[in-house]
Amino acid sequence: MNHRDLADLREPYDGTPLCRDDLSAHPMEQFHIWFTQARTSGLAEPNAMALATVGPRGIPRTRTVLLKGYNRSGLRFFTNYRSRKGEALLENPYVSAVFPWHPVQRQVTLVGRAERLGDEENDAYFRTRPRGSQVSAWASERQSSRVPNRAELERLYRRFDDAWGADEEIPRPDYWGGFRISRSRWSSGRGGPIGCTTGSVTCSGPGKGPTVRGTSSGCRREPRPRGRIRPHRWEVGFAPPRYD
Ligand SMILES: Cc1cc2nc3c(=O)[nH]c(=O)nc-3n(C[C@H](O)[C@H](O)[C@H](O)COP(=O)(O)O)c2cc1C
Repeated sequence: MNHRDLADLREPYDGTPLCRDDLSAHPMEQFHIWFTQARTSGLAEPNAMALATVGPRGIPRTRTVLLKGYNRSGLRFFTNYRSRKGEALLENPYVSAVFPWHPVQRQVTLVGRAERLGDEENDAYFRTRPRGSQVSAWASERQSSRVPNRAELERLYRRFDDAWGADEEIPRPDYWGGFRISRSRWSSGRGGPIGCTTGSVTCSGPGKGPTVRGTSSGCRREPRPRGRIRPHRWEVGFAPPRYD
């Protein structure tokens, strides 16, 4: 095995180039457009994102979680509050995430703050989960910690599966719930025959229009918007035409 094994592994980037005029003023509206494109393209699990948190000793960790809703206030995902990520977020609410939509030659990344959802929203979402997922939430109270073997996990699952009748409502464990990533700073890169190389676009929020920053040969340069920075901001990086 050597490095040359991968030297010929490359995709032609032939997507439409990303330019300022294509962007919605509010990053969440733009996210909705891109998410819809990713979803309708047929790529697997478009709502899967790699989520990075920073642990108590400043060490970052990344894992996949599923996006389970978004609106103008942000993005939400659900987890076990006692998991490693749950505990990391109690100490340090900052996260970074990437949606790796490679089949459509796009990635969307963000940096933001994750805040715990309230009981009402958690209960409402928990009720929509299939019974098996609800039982799993009970069986994985110790998510992130070591279990002796798979049989032990299965034993736990059966124990909780037997605890409620088939028609009985399973309550949400208090250690299970969601986070909303809000006050985020967004960026996106797209493979394509791009005239604008390694520039960036920022947007300070609704009504303020995206602003081109950095070195960009193919996009207009505009002054930074004045005034208060709104919660959601753009920072769109243009991928160089090729990485090889
Ligand atoms: C496709 C996929 C989706 C996942 N979605 C979630 C999720 O929505 N929430 C979650 O807590 N873990 C999810 N996981 C498991 C996490 O990646 C991770 O292994 C687990 O949450 C423990 O992470 P932690 O120890 O860093 O807290 C998913 C894993 C995969 C492979």
